[in-house]
Amino acid sequence: MKLLYLYSESDFTPWRENINAQTMAALIQATPAFCTPSVAHFVGFTPEFADFLRQFDLVFNVCYGYGVADQVEVVRWLDWHDIKHTASSYETQLLAMDKALLPDLCAQVGLDTPAILTIEQAALFSSNATFIAKHRYGSLHRDMLFFRRDEMPYAMLEQQKDYLIQPYIEGREFTVAVIPDADGARPVCLPPLEIIPDDGRTIYVAGQSYGKTFKEFYPVMDKTFRQKMMKGILDLHKLLGIKGMSRTDLRVAEDKIYVLDINTMPNLDPQRSYLPALVRNYGLSMTDLVARLAQSATHWYQQRQVPHESMSAIGE
Ligand SMILES: Nc1ncnc2c1ncn2[C@@H]1O[C@H](COP(=O)(O)OP(=O)(O)O)[C@@H](O)[C@H]1O
Ligand SMILES: [Mg+2]
Repeated sequence: MKLLYLYSESDFTPWRENINAQTMAALIQATPAFCTPSVAHFVGFTPEFADFLRQFDLVFNVCYGYGVADQVEVVRWLDWHDIKHTASSYETQLLAMDKALLPDLCAQVGLDTPAILTIEQAALFSSNATFIAKHRYGSLHRDMLFFRRDEMPYAMLEQQKDYLIQPYIEGREFTVAVIPDADGARPVCLPPLEIIPDDGRTIYVAGQSYGKTFKEFYPVMDKTFRQKMMKGILDLHKLLGIKGMSRTDLRVAEDKIYVLDINTMPNLDPQRSYLPALVRNYGLSMTDLVARLAQSATHWYQQRQVPHESMSAIGE
């Protein structure tokens, strides 16, 4: 199989855990034997570039944006040009990136998610309640606001029209990866990773941008509760029709699982990103992961090629 790693430097990618030369080197090194690897930098939304990309059997999509276009616009263009790639489809990514849809999606799989509040609703909470305002479509942890009921940052909230206000869930944070199984036919959920602040603070944010956190691969957790978490996240992955892999951030408070964020293109930096760490800890190599993603994408496109004859047979 001719496999092309597609990446780009963009306004978005210099931020923290994202694509860099080491990530690319690690991916190329991890290429499974059944694939012949090539690498291309995204060079523009042109018909010529689409023709070039179509020469490969599969694009391993690690292109998180191009110029001012984000990963979703890149995927829309790839899909539109019938270029087979490993990332989720445009439709799926649009759903997954919109945090305003989480209440609806989570209800369908029996999980919780923080309520989305208007300023007026937030004002009715008790005076010691803490809130978070964050961008509806995700923002690589940028511009998040934390505030108490009586310190509502009205001006900031007015300025940023796409802010969502949520109660701040004071609880344990986990991130849960779903990857394809060994032959790429079905998704499997890996055990959750707990993200713990290094100093016991109660207001914290996963990652390193708002102070240090560390990874706990073997969090203490009731077995039934862990199964409920993994089943719910797997169902969410399937509900969205995610291709290949996903990584979902969640918080647990008072035995409820609050989904915060579904990532359809989790970062793959071998040292810094959560998903490769989870995969490694599960006993799989990066080569296993690349192989599974390639097989799962192949499977995904095969399933969509339903011949017209059989369609009409079903209808009769
Ligand atoms: N309602 C919330 N309660 C508590 N912490 C939150 C909440 N929303 C977000 N966070 C914290 O902020 C981090 C980033 O938020 P997230 O929704 O995952 O946005 P992004 O798209 O930037 O990753 C989360 O991993 C979590 O640590
Ligand atoms: Mg997140």
